[in-house]
Amino acid sequence: MTETTPRRAPSIPGDVGFGVDVGGSGIKGGLVDLTTGALIGERIKILTPHPSVPEAVASTIVEIVTRAGWDGPVGVTLPSVVTAGIARTAANIDPSWIGTDARALLSRALDGRAVSVLNDADAAGIAEDRFGAAKDTPGVVILLTFGTGIGSAVLHNGVLLPNTEFGHMEVGGAEAEHRAASSVKEKRDWSYKRWAKEVSAVLERFEALLWPDLFIAGGGISRKHDKWIPLLTNTTPVVPAELRNTAGIVGAAYAAETGIAP
Ligand code: BGC
Repeated sequence: MTETTPRRAPSIPGDVGFGVDVGGSGIKGGLVDLTTGALIGERIKILTPHPSVPEAVASTIVEIVTRAGWDGPVGVTLPSVVTAGIARTAANIDPSWIGTDARALLSRALDGRAVSVLNDADAAGIAEDRFGAAKDTPGVVILLTFGTGIGSAVLHNGVLLPNTEFGHMEVGGAEAEHRAASSVKEKRDWSYKRWAKEVSAVLERFEALLWPDLFIAGGGISRKHDKWIPLLTNTTPVVPAELRNTAGIVGAAYAAETGIAP
């Protein structure tokens, strides 16, 4: 008997979508070819308003969408846990987002059109799974974004388990992101070797609890992957993210077209 692993999530997206990635320093948007995961035309970036309160961020998103001349559904990432369109946490964004119905707010700001809102790392995980480092990889895939904090996305055969917040998991008495975010390396002026020890400890903990088949390392520091991924001592293979700074936009656009946002 041959057994085939059901691989892909059920929904088939339209050919083109629009995604916006909201970060602490910049808000980036673009039109995405959902057959390849590539951006069509330029990536539009506007500095995140300060304070980054919901109304100000919404206006910036409207500006990006208008500039692109896009009039379809829009997907938006937030550095927040998002359930049913409502932001539940706020990392590197104004705390007034907590409890805000982001989906309703952004839909109103965009004249009533459909808006999907999801966590930034979840969007990156979806993009890497469909188009990047985990394309055609069955099993459990965990994407981690190493930046100011650590974001996480967990997928099983292409289906996302939304809003995992593994960056906040306690590992050896400290939050994972307080040990192994790339900002910790910078702040302490650690070598890659020293930092890789912390990353390995965090990955080993995740392995013991989740038994993934593959880790994908994202965030800016994944560009220098050859300097640190070979130094990791955990068991599960770790590969660098492929989509780099477009993963959030691509995942958001995909979510808007497929309705997979939580
Ligand atoms: C937040 C996550 C977010 C990650 C990356 C963490 O501190 O808790 O929700 O995905 O940072 O922005």
